[in-house]
Amino acid sequence: MLNGKNILITGGTGSFGNHFVDYVLEHYNPNKIIIYSRDEYKQFIMANKYKEHKDVLRFFIGDVRDKARFTRALNDVDYVIHAAAMKQVPACEYNPIEAVKTNINGAMNIVDAVLDSPSVKRVVALSTDKAVNPINLYGGTKLVSDKLFIAANAYVGNRDLNFSVVRYGNVAGSRGSVIPFFQNLIDKGERALPITDYRMTRFWIDLEQGVELVIKALSEARGGETFISKIPSFKITDLAQAMLPGCEMPEIGIREGEKLHEVMVTREDSMTTYEYDKHYIIYPHFDWWKDRGNVTGTKVEQGFEYSSGKNNEWLDVEALKERLKKMKG
Ligand SMILES: NC(=O)c1ccc[n+]([C@@H]2O[C@H](COP(=O)([O-])OP(=O)(O)OC[C@H]3O[C@@H](n4cnc5c(N)ncnc54)[C@H](OP(=O)(O)O)[C@@H]3O)[C@@H](O)[C@H]2O)c1
Repeated sequence: MLNGKNILITGGTGSFGNHFVDYVLEHYNPNKIIIYSRDEYKQFIMANKYKEHKDVLRFFIGDVRDKARFTRALNDVDYVIHAAAMKQVPACEYNPIEAVKTNINGAMNIVDAVLDSPSVKRVVALSTDKAVNPINLYGGTKLVSDKLFIAANAYVGNRDLNFSVVRYGNVAGSRGSVIPFFQNLIDKGERALPITDYRMTRFWIDLEQGVELVIKALSEARGGETFISKIPSFKITDLAQAMLPGCEMPEIGIREGEKLHEVMVTREDSMTTYEYDKHYIIYPHFDWWKDRGNVTGTKVEQGFEYSSGKNNEWLDVEALKERLKKMKG
C-alpha cells in the first residue's frame, strides 16, 4: 500500500519517525518520504544515516504551527503521518501556551491544510494513553488533537480522504520512562530500585509495534477510528526484579500526576469499541459514521475497560528478561 506513494511525516526526526523510515524502507518501495520538522541538525544527522536512500528521503524544515509552510510541503503527498508533538509532561506544564500552540494549533493547521490539498488521501495522527482521562496538559492537548482529527472526517465530502488516530502508551525504553530510570540507578551501583506503588502496572509496546499499528491504520481506516494494539502488561515490581534480580524495592509513594495503570479504552468508550484479533478500534460517536458501512469486529461488553491492570496477557519476570535482552541486542 505504500509502494510508489509520497508519504510525509511530521516530527520525522524523532524516535517514531526514525523507526518508521527504517521499517518502510525495509518493507516497501515508496516514491518519497518527506521529513517535516524544525531542527536542521537532527535532519542533517538523519540525512547522513540514510544517504543510500537520498532519492527517496526529502527533508523539509518547518513548524506544524506554520500552516503556509506545511501546505507547501504537502504538494503531491498521498499520506500524512502526524508524529510531531511537545510530549514531555513537565515541559508542557511549565510552558502551557507552547504546548497548546504545537499540539492543538499544529493539529488544526494539519487538518486545514490537508482539507485544502487535493492529493492527500490518508492522515494518521499519533496519540497517547495520556489523552485518556487526562490529568496533565500534555494529555489534555493530545485529547483535543485526537478530537480535531476525528471530527475532520465530517468535512471531506466525497473525496477519497480520511483521518484516523493511533493510540499507544510509553514505548519500552523511551527517554524518561521507567527502564532507563532503573538502568541509570543500576549503572550507578544502586542495590535498591524504588517503586512508587507496588500495585503499579504498564503495557509493553515497542516502536516496531507502534509503526505496524500506524501502517494498519493507513491501510484499513475509513475515517474517525482510534486504533489500539492488544499488547501484554507487566508489573513494575516484576520489571525491577528482571533488571536487578533480588533487589530491594522500597515503596516511595505515587507521584503527582502518575496513574496506577495505563488505560487505552475507558468504560465510557466501551459503547463504540470493537474487538479484533490483534487490536481494538474505538469508532466515532458521530452520525456521519453510520454511512460508512458495517464494522466487522465484535462489540465489547458495556463497561469494558482496556487497562494495563486488567489485561489477559502478562509478562512475568522471565518474559521481561527476554524482552530486555532483545532490546539491548
Ligand atoms: N515516545 C513515546 O513513548 C510515545 C508514546 C505514546 C505516544 N507518543 C506520540 O508519538 C509521537 C512521536 O513521539 P516520539 O517519541 O517520536 O517523539 P520525539 O522523539 O520527541 O520526536 C518529536 C519530533 O517532533 C518534532 N517536532 C517537535 N515540535 C515540532 C513542531 N512544532 N513542528 C514540527 N516538528 C516538531 C521534533 O523535531 P524538531 O524538534 O526538530 O522540530 C521531532 O522530530 C508524539 O505525537 C507522541 O505524543 C510517543
